[in-house]
Amino acid sequence: MAQNRLRRLFLLATLALVVAGCSVIGIPDSPLNSLDPQGPFSRRIDALFWPVFWVATAIFVLVEGAVVIAAIVFRDRPGRPEPRQIHGNNKLEILWTVIPALILASVAVPTVRGVIELTSCGVDAYPVEIIGHQWWFEYRYPEEGIDTATVLVIPAGREVCATMTSEDVLHNYWIPQLNGKRYLVPGQETLLRLQADEPGEYRGQCAEFCGLSHSLMRAEVRAVTEEEFTAWIAAQKEPAAEPAAGTPEAAGRDVFLNRCTQCHTIDPVNVVVEEAFNGPNLTHFMDRGWIAGGYLPYSRENLARWLSNPPDTKPGSYMPDLALTQVEIDALTAYLETLR
Ligand code: CUA
Repeated sequence: MAQNRLRRLFLLATLALVVAGCSVIGIPDSPLNSLDPQGPFSRRIDALFWPVFWVATAIFVLVEGAVVIAAIVFRDRPGRPEPRQIHGNNKLEILWTVIPALILASVAVPTVRGVIELTSCGVDAYPVEIIGHQWWFEYRYPEEGIDTATVLVIPAGREVCATMTSEDVLHNYWIPQLNGKRYLVPGQETLLRLQADEPGEYRGQCAEFCGLSHSLMRAEVRAVTEEEFTAWIAAQKEPAAEPAAGTPEAAGRDVFLNRCTQCHTIDPVNVVVEEAFNGPNLTHFMDRGWIAGGYLPYSRENLARWLSNPPDTKPGSYMPDLALTQVEIDALTAYLETLR
């Protein structure tokens, strides 16, 4: 009786886990859904996943079915002779070696072809650079001299070729609706092809454990129309506006100059030397809509929470608690909100 109850409890717990694991599937705007491809490269993976999934399902049903049938039909009963043994049957041995080998080969060919296709960029692809930091993603546009963070803006319908590396430890760039996962390796370069069919926002996540705030290392790809992309590039090349003297924004810029310039650059206010510890470039801070490496959406409340104690919001954060006063936070907020 107790054993039965235990078994039922175990079954229920397993079922709950499975259901929880599936909970994102089928919800239209679930942010990390690799079963909802929105571009040619994720579709390439999807087109491989489903046939393999159904072949595996068929094999599972056949094998488990055979096991269950054998267990029932050939079960031990009083007075029943031992069933006929088939050990050493060459025909059967060859058959069940050849069939799996054929199945594996037919899966391997498209898989290897897909891997090769997904790891080399097209010649006309638009080049960007992705650099991993604990715990945020930096993006550079080498043709334009743009340096930004967290939200990668790309033109919809065009292939983007990201050359990726890391400043510190292994990271992994994963935008499930646009492509599979790819490592960012310190001292090495890896390539990632990204393309979105339609304008939209595609959420992502660092997919390799990289320290305390790994799970809070988020990313976003924002695909825009060609016209919007041209306008965005032009806006990003503009320096930040200078606040008028005596305004709260000017007071905020002074706080920035006093407290933030060891790590953060705002063009044309300051430049962080290349060798120094680098935080995200804040010249167009408000364009991103996210703070704390994509963990928190922008709001005054979230910014105040972040500025008042970064490691408390994001464990291990290299942005230290500067013990800013509420007056300093308000001034900084006023200034940062002008950085569009
Ligand atoms: Cu970066 Cu996990």
